[in-house]
Amino acid sequence: MAVPVPGGRATWGSKLGFILAAAGSAIGLGNIWRFPYVTYENGGGVFVLLYLIAIVCLGLPVMLAELTIGRHTARNPVGAFRMIAPNWRFVGYLGVLTGVAILSYYGVVAGWTIGYVVKSAAGSLDPDDFGTFIADPALQVGYLLAFLTATVVVVAFGVKNGIERMAQILMPLLLLLMLGLVIRGLTLPTAAEGLRFYLYPDFGAVTVKTVIFAVGQAFFSLSLGMGAMITYGSYINKKDNLATSALAVVSFDTCIALLAGFLIFPVIGASITKGGPTLVFVTMIEQFNLMAGGRWVALLFFVLLAIAALTSTVSLLEVATSYMVDELGMKRLKAVLSVGAVTILLGIPSALSLGAADGLTDLANGKGFLNIMDFLFGNVSLAFGALLTCIFLVYRWGISNAAAEVQSAYPGFARFVPLWRILLGVIAPAAIAAMLVYIIATGEGLG
Ligand code: PFF
Repeated sequence: MAVPVPGGRATWGSKLGFILAAAGSAIGLGNIWRFPYVTYENGGGVFVLLYLIAIVCLGLPVMLAELTIGRHTARNPVGAFRMIAPNWRFVGYLGVLTGVAILSYYGVVAGWTIGYVVKSAAGSLDPDDFGTFIADPALQVGYLLAFLTATVVVVAFGVKNGIERMAQILMPLLLLLMLGLVIRGLTLPTAAEGLRFYLYPDFGAVTVKTVIFAVGQAFFSLSLGMGAMITYGSYINKKDNLATSALAVVSFDTCIALLAGFLIFPVIGASITKGGPTLVFVTMIEQFNLMAGGRWVALLFFVLLAIAALTSTVSLLEVATSYMVDELGMKRLKAVLSVGAVTILLGIPSALSLGAADGLTDLANGKGFLNIMDFLFGNVSLAFGALLTCIFLVYRWGISNAAAEVQSAYPGFARFVPLWRILLGVIAPAAIAAMLVYIIATGEGLG
């Protein structure tokens, strides 16, 4: 049963509903597409270890910070910062802008998942197709449009009837598909070799870059730094325990990333010749084609990716939508349609930047429009947003005010407050600032 808050703002139907929705936001292409290839490129097992450290020491405290700001204010990110400290509302605006920008190119890659569902269903999976596929303007724009339309439809139904209901159906399905595919992968002859690479930590491979990438992957994967979790937190019931909710979402997301490694590395085994974004769309297909019934395994795999992507795109759209509904007093449907339209327009140059339009494929240092958007918004802006959120919570709002919000439903949180203060006030800002300096100085995106 939904308990309406004063003013009639929606809340999640249940704590589990929130956890599934927020885990849905967190679990996305970042876990299943990006985590494996970033792991591959950064030393395998040792990267996994650093990633886990980053999740526990940085991801969890910042997740709790965002949920707490959201639940306390029951507002979108702009309204949330404005309510506590009006001068800080720019952090909210940055989040709204970042959400739309990320959605515009994330939707392009999400569109590929539908393309590959279609290809697997039609039995026409060819690993050499990828280059032509991403350079086809009609397919790229068409699938982007299809994916964003699906996202708009879900968000238009609202928080409880759209996002939560979708998550309640799709997240269990995602888990089931994942487990089925992991079991299939582990029984392949290539499994041992792949797993050795995935899990064996090569400490010699640790560089500053490895550490930075682990931190960046942790934030991106948990959907932190742009107010998505402030927005989702704003619909949490006052009686719910925020600390256990944050822990559940973080654990769920991390388990799925780790499982994605257990799914992908056994399948590719020793055939890892090339990392990068094509790991999933080319290397996996080479292997599926060698497998008995591989076409159907491929179909399930791409359905899994599409589901993961949809539950994330929905959260990216919800941030700007909630801003327009709360702050500009727009009707939800009108807000969703306007943001959706802007996102599609902004997504077109990304969709065309992978070979379709010459002018967009190489804008700076060999990077095309999509890569530049990812660098600016998926890397720099998210990191900046997360940094500001930590500083805001500790040095502006005050840790005791934030802690009071958590303690209202969980008095025992008191014993964790000193640790939370150090992690948010010192450790996380230092790590994020180092990451920001690194990515800006090197121009190297985390993807
Ligand atoms: N966490 C998502 C993923 O791992 O794919 C991506 C993402 C979604 C980032 C929502 C940020 C966000 F607000």
